[in-house]
Amino acid sequence: MSRPFEFHWTPKPSGRTDVRLMLVRDGRLLGGPSLSGGERKALEAWLKAAEFKGKAGTVAWPQTVAGILLAGIGEEKEFHAARWRRAWAAAGRALFQAGAIRRAAFEWPVETRFPIETAELAGLAAEAMDQGAYSFERYRTGSSRGACAFEWTGAALAAPAVREAVRRAETVSATLREVRDIANLPANELGPMELAARTRKLARAAGLTCKVWDTAALNQAKCGALLAVAKGSRRPGCLIRLAYSGRRGGRLKPLAVVGKAVTFDSGGISLKPGKNMEWMKYDKSGGMAALAAVLLAARLKLPRPVVAYIPAVENMPGGAATRPGDIVTARNGKTIEVLNTDAEGRLILADALTMAAEEKPAAIVDIATLTGAVIVALGHEATAVVGNDDRLVLDLMLSGEATGERLWQLPLWPEYDELMKGAFADLRNIGDGSAGTITGGSFLKAFVPQGIPWAHLDIAGTAWLEKEAAHGAPGATLVPARLLADWAARTDFGR
Ligand code: BES
Ligand code: MN
Ligand code: ZN
Repeated sequence: MSRPFEFHWTPKPSGRTDVRLMLVRDGRLLGGPSLSGGERKALEAWLKAAEFKGKAGTVAWPQTVAGILLAGIGEEKEFHAARWRRAWAAAGRALFQAGAIRRAAFEWPVETRFPIETAELAGLAAEAMDQGAYSFERYRTGSSRGACAFEWTGAALAAPAVREAVRRAETVSATLREVRDIANLPANELGPMELAARTRKLARAAGLTCKVWDTAALNQAKCGALLAVAKGSRRPGCLIRLAYSGRRGGRLKPLAVVGKAVTFDSGGISLKPGKNMEWMKYDKSGGMAALAAVLLAARLKLPRPVVAYIPAVENMPGGAATRPGDIVTARNGKTIEVLNTDAEGRLILADALTMAAEEKPAAIVDIATLTGAVIVALGHEATAVVGNDDRLVLDLMLSGEATGERLWQLPLWPEYDELMKGAFADLRNIGDGSAGTITGGSFLKAFVPQGIPWAHLDIAGTAWLEKEAAHGAPGATLVPARLLADWAARTDFGR
């Protein structure tokens, strides 16, 4: 069920509107050409009395003037795409929550200076607004609130660059909604094979090729590390490959994204504590972001080919489960001592990285909810990045800045590799407890052959919103799907 919603983006709204959306920065109202003198005075008085400074991501319905929604965009000197998005997401969420609104107008503050271009601002705003208004309603019986779809119209769209950016944002938004509906599913409904089936369906509709390795095929492919994790569950694991061939066909080397999809991470025999364990249905987020990224590449008709490898398993402590101390052999021939079955993400990624590397891609980026340690380091504001190629890392960071999905680099010096050497095998799957995010990256590095630029993004702190917030619904964020689409559109790796 969808609730139509027109969003006019115009310096002067024409016709009846239910809501006028206005921005507040440094405690001051920006723009607002449609306001009468009296309305403006009343709003300014309200801003003062309510001490509404306009912190990015805060919204308010001032009582003194009806039909006005104020959205804070933070301080001028602290402008960032991430804060700009947060403001619009909060505005989208407020409109969604308010229910009865059908037409809103946004009065673009033309006199305001921003450090980035108008078209880019408009695209980010449209995307963020839609994502803020998203809600996972599948299991609500009775009064479903319905989806709230924004449609952007109005005079400002006359500028071709702006129109293009907004149309692109609409494509992005529709794709992200579809994938979020899967990413938010609980593990009883979505195991590895169900994930593969849904992925295949979306892939087909977008014109991608999709191949799935089942247990027998994985055995034949010698994916011993992936299978070692899958074994503990009654539900078999699999490896999914998606490919978008690129608008410019096969002459360019593909970009590869590899996403961890653990549909539930109980920890396995190294069982996790019960508190908050339900959160671990989010452990498929890397795979979901990888799926979203290739779908975006296809729907945005990017020139470059993009492939995704998604290893999907359920990490459970069944009778056939891998035990601490077990030694397994990965597809690339390396042996691994499994000292902790809860460090399962790196095991399934090991084989998926090997498979991806066999295609000789121009670069590989893996995405995973890999370590709790990244939340200790960066909280929920940034994704950690490590890699074997500083130019690739820098490119990804720039895309993070542009899309508001921020990255922060950690070192991956060879000294850390010492911590990951096994007593009885080539590698061990945990370090000594120090530098948890880096040692996870060091382990993965062993599965990327020399000469292939590679980066690892640890999204454990950014993939999921734990509770309802002003700027979004609880659940999957699909970070860093937009970042990867931006990177794929711009990168010159392998050209
Ligand atoms: N999926 C988890 C990462 C995680 C843990 C995310 C806690 C959010 C909160 C991953 O599979 C995991 O369990 N990692 C271990 C690694 C450790 C055993 C080396 C962790 O971070 O505790
Ligand atoms: Mn785990
Ligand atoms: Zn995990």
